[in-house]
Amino acid sequence: MFEDYHFSENAKIITNKVPGEKSLELLAEQDQLESKNRSYPRGIPIAFESAKGATVKDVDGNIFIDFFSGCGVLNLGHNNKDIIKEIREFPDGIMHALDFPTKVKIDFMKELLSSLPKNLKGKYKISFGGPTGSDAVEAAIKLARINTGRHTILSFQGSYHGMTMGALSVTSSLKHREKVNPLIPGVHFMPYCSCYRCPMGMKNGKCNLECVHFIKNVLENPHSGVDKPAAIIIEPIQGEGGTYIPRDGWLEKVVDLARKNGVIVIFDEVQAGFYRTGKLFSFQHTNSVPDIITMSKGIGGIGLPLSLILLRNELDTWEPGTHIGTFRGNQLGMVAGLSAMKFVKRMNIENYVSRLEKLFLKELKSIQKKSKFIGEIRGRGMMFGVEYVKNKKTKEPFPELAKKIRKRCYENGLLVEIGGYYDNVVRLLPSLIISEKIARNGLNIFKNANTIASKPNKIGFLVAFLF
Ligand SMILES: Cc1ncc(COP(=O)(O)O)c(C=O)c1O
Repeated sequence: MFEDYHFSENAKIITNKVPGEKSLELLAEQDQLESKNRSYPRGIPIAFESAKGATVKDVDGNIFIDFFSGCGVLNLGHNNKDIIKEIREFPDGIMHALDFPTKVKIDFMKELLSSLPKNLKGKYKISFGGPTGSDAVEAAIKLARINTGRHTILSFQGSYHGMTMGALSVTSSLKHREKVNPLIPGVHFMPYCSCYRCPMGMKNGKCNLECVHFIKNVLENPHSGVDKPAAIIIEPIQGEGGTYIPRDGWLEKVVDLARKNGVIVIFDEVQAGFYRTGKLFSFQHTNSVPDIITMSKGIGGIGLPLSLILLRNELDTWEPGTHIGTFRGNQLGMVAGLSAMKFVKRMNIENYVSRLEKLFLKELKSIQKKSKFIGEIRGRGMMFGVEYVKNKKTKEPFPELAKKIRKRCYENGLLVEIGGYYDNVVRLLPSLIISEKIARNGLNIFKNANTIASKPNKIGFLVAFLF
């Protein structure tokens, strides 16, 4: 399926080495013009020319298989031709409409609300803000504070919610926080259900969800030292943290605890949402329901900036204009988003993703079997994490190897990125419309990169480490 949505079935590296000369030129120019703040081209030094589906072309004509999809944005592929067609037909419409109603906006909202799971239908409204995931998180925090009159927020260790000051305040990465402190006060980080590295020190899978007990104590012990929170913000699957998928029942228990204690539940679905895990929201793999949902990334159809929150009707108490933003009416984003939602249904993406998930997990687990350094494979839908460790028993993180694997993949025509608590997880976020053939070819490149690196006594390993 989807064979004709990409440049080619396989990667094609036509330059002697990557980056090629033209990429190098643009990278050098970028270095002169753009702030040090840029990050991705440091790990993958490449200058893009064009892209199609699950493939991208660099300015030297090399074709790469893209297992990263703009960090989980291009769920329906680069320049998805069906969505592009609808965008091309739109130019006579209005492009920037602030928050005035337009036909496109109404159709977009109707489609999104009618796509909600049955038990949520009719119970939520939509609020638009600035066009980023961080902005949706800001809105969710504000709304929870306004509705409760409280300010404390519970978040989780290993979480990522964005880089604006409010969103960063609920993001756990010390690297990002330490130089810009103080952030917003009253945020406390709870242990996440990341069983491979259990924050409660329990053996993987052999526990009584002590991490939930910890949260119960924070919420219910009069001597917890934590003021009653306005909200708890949760990624139902941690993305940047390294694709951590909580144990069955964890999310339900945390949500029950929050409800019992009058705490608003925010699910951050910016990355795991919009069918990334096969369903509209990643929490649909559980029996839990949030009060506020953040969405961005995939909802812009082909990578157009769009973000929103869904809020329970009864939380819609804020004054008009409480959370505004000049670019909250991105019409083209809504055209693309609407078209994307229809595409998902027309093409039965949910089924396709569950087939692909099986293919990826089978291949990745067989790579893990042959590797001394892959501690764990985690995945749901098209969201995978491959965690590298120096020793499978001690689980000492191996970020250097994750980097080498990324480099080797890149040199052979596959784009992957790195995340995880210790930067030791290779993250795969392929497009949901990747063809089986491209998926297998990409996985083959990934397998070869691992094979070389997992032979510690062979020259290949030395070479991998020297360069
Ligand atoms: C779960 C989650 N929330 C929020 C954000 C922030 O989104 P943005 O980078 O668009 O501000 C991200 C970005 O990766 C994310 O993964």
